[in-house]
Amino acid sequence: MESGDALDPVRESRGPGSVLPPAPPPAVGWSAAEPESPAAAGPAAPPSRPASLRAPIAGHPSVGPVGLCIVGCGRFAMFHARAARRLRPRVALSFASREASRAEACRRRFGGTAAFGSYEAAAEDPRVHALVVCTPHHLHLEHVRLAARHGKAVLLEKPIARTVVEADELLRVARGAGILLLVGENFHFMPAFAAARALLRRGAIGRVRQVLVAARGYRRPTGWRCRREETGGGLLIDGGVHWIHLLRDWGGAIATVSALAPPRLFPEAEGEDTVFLLARFESGAVGLLANSLATPRLPRWQWSWVSGDGGSLGVDSLGRTLWLRARGDSRFRIFLRDRRGLAAQLTEFVAALQEGRPPLLPAESTREDLAVVRAAYRSLETGQPVRVADAS
Ligand SMILES: NC(=O)c1ccc[n+]([C@@H]2O[C@H](COP(=O)([O-])OP(=O)(O)OC[C@H]3O[C@@H](n4cnc5c(N)ncnc54)[C@H](OP(=O)(O)O)[C@@H]3O)[C@@H](O)[C@H]2O)c1
Repeated sequence: MESGDALDPVRESRGPGSVLPPAPPPAVGWSAAEPESPAAAGPAAPPSRPASLRAPIAGHPSVGPVGLCIVGCGRFAMFHARAARRLRPRVALSFASREASRAEACRRRFGGTAAFGSYEAAAEDPRVHALVVCTPHHLHLEHVRLAARHGKAVLLEKPIARTVVEADELLRVARGAGILLLVGENFHFMPAFAAARALLRRGAIGRVRQVLVAARGYRRPTGWRCRREETGGGLLIDGGVHWIHLLRDWGGAIATVSALAPPRLFPEAEGEDTVFLLARFESGAVGLLANSLATPRLPRWQWSWVSGDGGSLGVDSLGRTLWLRARGDSRFRIFLRDRRGLAAQLTEFVAALQEGRPPLLPAESTREDLAVVRAAYRSLETGQPVRVADAS
């Protein structure tokens, strides 16, 4: 799949096989009352959170548009810039790059209000209320620290960090500074996946028993993506973390994982290029993720399915279609707008900032996605199933 690597979400299950909201508050801070999507959510009350997360969130300090600065003007930053353009005049967009000329070129291209030749200059500028951090994974903690020092909100690209230990430190920094942190797990906001979540919660296919996620394609990694130290691994922590989010969205919390990878296809890349991951959900359901960027000549149109005791629900890997096949309720839907969910994600971020509330997708949930990745890496090393709770 293309590395506008799309897709994500997350919900915990109530009990074995259930797709209903959980009785106790989930460990990831997921709310049973969480609305399905920003559009469906409206101005709903913020989700209830564990006591540890009830720190106040610094709100947007002034009237007028929210000053959003895109930090790191690489490939995916351009996707955010296009989404942000759609939010005008609610946002005033600016760009920060290590190269002033690159930031200025983006400002001109997207009609921004300012361009900064360093990330620090953007963070300290009073016109900037929030940073949209689009830098490599090894810099995520550093750039959240930068935002925290200046009291700025952060929309941080996924994954939250390279390790669970690093993620916990990042969460501690954000909480300590009282800043809003939304991790850019855009699968959560993709219209097709949000619609799937709503159907599952409504019990459209009954109790979830099986999840089969297929996301295989071909893309040779380049630059920092070839270096384990900078990515934190290989494919699974990069594009794969989205699909893990989808697994958890459909099947609930994951208890254990086993992972296998074939020998690498690209000698220049240190991390894995293909992973097959078998998951045991806490509910007792099972899931399989087949994820690869080293599978030549496959069609990009692939389907992932979640099956319950009353039917099956599928989405295609590009988030264009949803197919429900259930007793008394079968339907096929096509999604054309905001397919990656980036405008919905940014809308939620800006709304949370203006309302001084936590985002609908808690950063702690993306920490759980990472824990599954890390457990899978441990399983690749040991050849054994690994408990997600033991991941570091
Ligand atoms: N949600 C999704 O679907 C999705 C898709 C793709 C990527 N992403 C995520 O977005 C983030 C950026 O990925 P990308 O594909 O946009 O990467 P990229 O094209 O390599 O851009 C990264 C940018 O970070 C800045 N940077 C700062 N220090 C750097 C360093 N030491 N090495 C390299 N770049 C550095 C650079 O911008 P300046 O030179 O302008 O400062 C660079 O252009 C990652 O977290 C990635 O996982 C998410």
